[in-house]
Amino acid sequence: MTINERAPEGDRSYAAVADRFGMPLDEAMMTQRAVRKVLPDPVDRDVVLRCIELALRAPTGSNGQNWEFVVVEDREVLATFARRYRSAWRIYGGIGERVTAGDPAMSKVLGAVQWQVEHFEEIPVVVVPCLRGAVRFAPFPTLAQTSHYGSIYPSVQNLLLAARAVGLGASLITLPLWSVTMARRTLGLPLNVQPICMVPLGWPRGRYGPTTRRPVGDVVHLDRWGEQPWRGWEAPTPDGTAEDVDGS
Ligand SMILES: Cc1cc2nc3c(=O)[nH]c(=O)nc-3n(C[C@H](O)[C@H](O)[C@H](O)COP(=O)(O)O)c2cc1C
Repeated sequence: MTINERAPEGDRSYAAVADRFGMPLDEAMMTQRAVRKVLPDPVDRDVVLRCIELALRAPTGSNGQNWEFVVVEDREVLATFARRYRSAWRIYGGIGERVTAGDPAMSKVLGAVQWQVEHFEEIPVVVVPCLRGAVRFAPFPTLAQTSHYGSIYPSVQNLLLAARAVGLGASLITLPLWSVTMARRTLGLPLNVQPICMVPLGWPRGRYGPTTRRPVGDVVHLDRWGEQPWRGWEAPTPDGTAEDVDGS
């Protein structure tokens, strides 16, 4: 049983739910996942702003803080992005179905994406994290790219964790932004501002739960590629026994 795994009953004002932000960090991290099926019910703007305020505790390259967040509630704007999501999903979803045929876990994910694609204009609020300024190419082009895009995703992860803590359903999506030019026009963004991704937010229809991830020992290498002494590692608990690190 996890904390705040369902939408709060009754009063969902900031004052009523603010305590939920105090969820222990490890619990928020272990149970944060893409929650795409959300209720159309409004989300208190103060809850959204607090999530974004927590997002802003993240690092940025050279402490540039060159982030901007467009909070979209306008149904027409959402309907425009819904159409773009659908056209991208017609291609991407079709490929996904063929590639993952016979995998029940992935077909569940595809079903959830399909739901989001079909109900996109009913989502109460969608946050669009953006970056100001262009990628600089000299003198180290790869470093410039990673520093540029790496200056928004830590804040996006913070936003997802804040949403998780308070019990808001959230996901990180990019497909509706397949045309940056059209997205800029729809949101009225200046040319030096690039939309990077979208985070649809709403009170969840279902509940949060554990995520499935590769074991830590399988992805960690010591000093050099291929040295993996921690395969099979499990987090020790205070009493010295091991705990299931995947939380499932
Ligand atoms: C860069 C990036 C782009 C993504 N784009 C989409 C998207 O367009 N639509 C979508 O439904 N999920 C998108 N996702 C979410 C992933 O599908 C999701 O993180 C993955 O399925 C794991 O889900 P879980 O956290 O519930 O286990 C994106 C994730 C990342 C990191």
